[in-house]
Amino acid sequence: MNMKYTITTPLYYVNDKPHLGSSYTTIACDAIARFQRLNGNSVLFLTGVDEHGQKIERTAESKELLPQVHCDQITEKYKYLWDKLNISYDRFVRTTSEEHTSLVHQFYSKVLKSDDVYLGRQSGWYCVGCEEYKDIDKNDNSPICSIHNKELEWRDEENLFFKLSKYQDQIEKLIRIDGFISPKSRKNEIINFVSKGLRDFSISRVNLKWGINVPGNKDHTFYVWFDALLGYVSGSLRDQSSPKLTEETLSNWPANIHVIGKDILRFHAVYWPAMLLSAGMETPLSVFGHGFLTREGQKMGKSLGNVLDPIELLEYGGIDAMRWYLLRDIEFGEDGDFQMKRFVDIVNSDLSNTIGNLLNRTITMSKKWFKEKIPIEDTSLPESPLKLQSEIKINEYMKSFKESNFKNSANAIIDLANSANLYLNEREPWKLIKDLSNKNIVACDLYSVLESCRIIGILLNPFVPNLSIRILNQLNVDSLSITFEKSLHWGLLDPSNGLQDPTPVMDKIEFNESSL
Ligand code: MSP
Repeated sequence: MNMKYTITTPLYYVNDKPHLGSSYTTIACDAIARFQRLNGNSVLFLTGVDEHGQKIERTAESKELLPQVHCDQITEKYKYLWDKLNISYDRFVRTTSEEHTSLVHQFYSKVLKSDDVYLGRQSGWYCVGCEEYKDIDKNDNSPICSIHNKELEWRDEENLFFKLSKYQDQIEKLIRIDGFISPKSRKNEIINFVSKGLRDFSISRVNLKWGINVPGNKDHTFYVWFDALLGYVSGSLRDQSSPKLTEETLSNWPANIHVIGKDILRFHAVYWPAMLLSAGMETPLSVFGHGFLTREGQKMGKSLGNVLDPIELLEYGGIDAMRWYLLRDIEFGEDGDFQMKRFVDIVNSDLSNTIGNLLNRTITMSKKWFKEKIPIEDTSLPESPLKLQSEIKINEYMKSFKESNFKNSANAIIDLANSANLYLNEREPWKLIKDLSNKNIVACDLYSVLESCRIIGILLNPFVPNLSIRILNQLNVDSLSITFEKSLHWGLLDPSNGLQDPTPVMDKIEFNESSL
């Protein structure tokens, strides 16, 4: 059944150019979006940037740029990288757009109507990097943010507050719903936080120009998180040019999944649903908090000088390598370590050897012995064991993908390719063909390996769409018309379509210590 499916990446801060962490989340979302489309769903894949707040204001100041000019420059870098990574997003939200501002105002008036806003005083230790007050004793001298390794700033100001505490019971219920928070380990962390009692939080700032003005409170701008979370709604509206909060324009809401990093789970699983409840809107259906990437065992950071620039990595290994490694080697949900040697080894082994060589050698044999046609399957011969194996692996792939377990899905693809390689090695068609009476048997064997390659090409699509297309092109399969439902049946490779001349679908990467 065709379903609507709305998926979001976080809206990335434009304080700096995109890094490997943001590329990671976006690649994962792209894989899910492509998977859902291949499942026949109509997907709205939303990404974008979070442009307001003190952090951005200060960065622009330090570069002696107007904030908007700075935001425009960094936004271009995000769009450029997402294009290079073949990210199939449908909407790119900018929180400095007029439409977004108007939506924030409409939303705020709903929250006001629910009587959920009051003026109060907020004092505490603030991290500009996180744009968040930290739960730290006021008597502590010069505390440090554990995420940014920077000194916190003391704040004491008049702010507007949102009555989060009013939603204690509703949030308690929501976070316990099976599947609302994944992975499971993070669910407990949130349950624990909420059980301590929710406290109202401030949603406006004074003395901060770079933000959306609060109607009715002249010196206040909205707290950047209040504004940014609403970007999900403005991006999902049906008609982007006239942002109205009506049932019709909200037809893509609620989001099916917000994919984020573990550091911003509270905002998404607690604050955000409460804001939506206050405005009488539906809460997201699920939130997935993935882990953090480190590099060769160390936190990536400018001070350590070990930040891996996604553009450099792309130039070095190519798009398929980068996407494959991040999804295949790192357990989605857990922290993961980027290791250059491992990156090269895994990509070469999986994509060039196991899959690339399998396709190349089978097409070469087919063309040599059977000219332009794919060997026709002789139905009187016993069924190829690869048929059953492909069915088992397709099931494993599907089950794992639905749980966002990319690693297991990728393993299922490699298992199928390994089985096909093993099958060729056991059957030794190069020996069998020497006796011409074996021609039918050899034809059947080669067909079953090519058919496995077609299935592998399709299963690879959400992970490495470019490589998937190259594989399917070699087999003369139209990659534009594939869907899981139609295309994942054994025996669909049409013998009369012929094969392209074999060319390696994936070049090997040379490892060299000083590569990056
Ligand atoms: N602007 C907010 C999100 C607002 S959503 C309405 C924000 N932006 S961010 O640019 O700082 O972070 C975006 C995402 O990148 C977060 O999900 C964060 O977890 C992720 N990552 C930042 N560093 C990371 C790694 N080293 N590894 C993996 N993901 C990391 O927060």
